[in-house]
Order: sequence, then structure tokens, then C-alpha cells
Amino acid sequence: MGIKDLFLKLYGRPAPKESAGECLGQHGKKTSKSRIVTVMNQKGGCGKTTTAINLSACLAEMGYRVLLVDLDPQAHASLNLGVDTHKLRKSIYHVLSRPDVPLHEIIHDTYSENLKIAPSNSFLSSALVDLVNRVGREEILKNRLGPARAGFDYIFIDCPPSLNILTINALAASDGLLIPVQVQYFSLEGMNDLFTTVDLVKSTLNPGLSIMGIVPTLFDKRTKLSRIMLDALKDYFKGQLLNTVISLSSTLAEAPIYRKPIILYCPNSKGAHDYRSLAEEITQNER
Ligand SMILES: Nc1ncnc2c1ncn2[C@@H]1O[C@H](COP(=O)(O)OP(=O)(O)OP(=O)(O)O)[C@@H](O)[C@H]1O
Ligand SMILES: [Mg+2]
Repeated sequence: MGIKDLFLKLYGRPAPKESAGECLGQHGKKTSKSRIVTVMNQKGGCGKTTTAINLSACLAEMGYRVLLVDLDPQAHASLNLGVDTHKLRKSIYHVLSRPDVPLHEIIHDTYSENLKIAPSNSFLSSALVDLVNRVGREEILKNRLGPARAGFDYIFIDCPPSLNILTINALAASDGLLIPVQVQYFSLEGMNDLFTTVDLVKSTLNPGLSIMGIVPTLFDKRTKLSRIMLDALKDYFKGQLLNTVISLSSTLAEAPIYRKPIILYCPNSKGAHDYRSLAEEITQNER
């Protein structure tokens, strides 16, 4: 049995049909149309936050106006962009739970004029309970993000490693979905649930949602298994796997300690190169 057959046997789902290029639309650089993109995979530690931060930073470096919305109670994106989450008086939790708190009230500046963050902190866990009985609970984020579209070219949403009311809100609010997948044997575990959720959201809350691409992450080119797995991912996801591969890199792992994206911490590193390539690929696909 080949590795492709093994995947099909284990995960039982053919790859979705859209190709990355088809999904992205026809907008040129610095398009006037804002794009809301959810970075999601319910598997923990596969590089969602690293991708959300560094892709946002690279697009900001290219001149795009970018907002990163931290929708994870772990608040790693907020911390990594220098927000002191313990001192926050208002966060994305307040935007979701209180209609009188507009998004612009919680947005923080960062090192770059082009990059802003809507931070989170551990209070956001309460949203899971608070939102349960709210009418239209799946579309609160969509309604709150709507007015921000005018001020940004890209709005990225960094999601927690789960499929819950927060992640449904993110999918309902988004034009595109970016899925970081770690290049390792069990990386496809749970992908069926993710695609089922995406299909459900598309058929009910957000028919316009498209898969922008799947990004291979934490790729260790030194091991044969990683290389086999990357080939298998390419085969399995066909046109959906983006060409850019994010390699395993010690500088990418270190940058959060200094609260910096990789292009500031180590601008000429492999990690900086990888994320700049990803930003280029994403913007090129939109042309
Ligand atoms: N390409 C990489 N090379 C080396 N380390 C990386 C790379 N990408 C991410 N990491 C490190 O791996 C860990 C997990 O990455 P990250 O926090 O981005 O994953 P995540 O999917 O957001 O996790 P969670 O599911 O907990 O939100 C972090 O310590 C991060 O610094
Ligand atoms: Mg994360």
C-alpha cells in the first residue's frame, strides 16, 4: 500500500477540489478589497500563531495594512507582538461579549505603522460560556469586524487549537482559510473534522468562504521521513498545498522570546525568507 492509499485509508476523505489559485480571487496588490483570513487547524502546535504573526509582519513590510486579531485565550499572538496581556482593560473578549465596545477601542499599535493587533487574554475562555445563549452567536465577530474592513488590506484571525464557537465565528467572518499543517506523520489527524466544519459553515453561515491554501510547516529537510511526508501532503492535497514550505528553524522558535516577528529578530534568516516567500505567494495568487 502506498503512502497516499494509507492516508486515504486512515483519514477516509478525498482532498477538497478547489485549487489554491482558484480560491484566491483576482485582486491586485494593495487591493481596495479587504481580505479576512482565518488561520486555523485544531491540531495544537502546528504553527498557526507563528504563521499568523510572521505572515502579517511580512505583508506589513510589503506595504499592506494588516490587522491581526488574536482569537486564542492563550494570547500568544498578542504576547509575541509586545502586548502586556495582564494589563489589558479591554480585549477581543469585550468586543465579542459587549455590543458597546467597538473593535477600534481595543486595537493596539505595534513596531510597524502597517501592523495592528486586536489582542486577547485568558478572559476569552469565558466567551465560550457567555456566547452560548446569544442570538446570532456564530456571527458576532463577522458583524464586529465588518467596519474594520475599510481600514485594512488584510485581517488575519489567529485561532485556538479547537473547533468551538470562537472558531465558528472566525470561519463565519472570513473570506479565506489558511491551514498550517506540520509535516509529520500524524498531521492529518482531525483534518476530516476541520473540513466537515468548513463545509457546514459554507452551507449555512458563509457560502463565500474559500480555502486559501494549506501551508506545510516545521519541515525538517534533514530527515527522510519529513521528505516523504511532504511529498505525501503534496499528493494528497494537490493544488491546495501552497508552494512555500516553512522549514524547522531555531530562529523562528527563538523570536517569540524577544517578542518580535522573524523579520525583525533575524531579517536574513531562513525563517524570514520562508515567511516572505509565503507573503509573496499569497499576494501573487490574488493577482
Ligand atoms: N518553523 C518553525 N521552526 C521552529 N519552531 C517553530 C516553527 N514554527 C513554530 N515553531 C514553534 O513551535 C511552537 C508551536 O508553534 P505555534 O505556537 O505557532 O503553534 P500553534 O499552532 O499556534 O499552537 P497552538 O495550537 O497552541 O495555538 C512554538 O514554540 C513556536 O515558536
Ligand atoms: Mg497558537
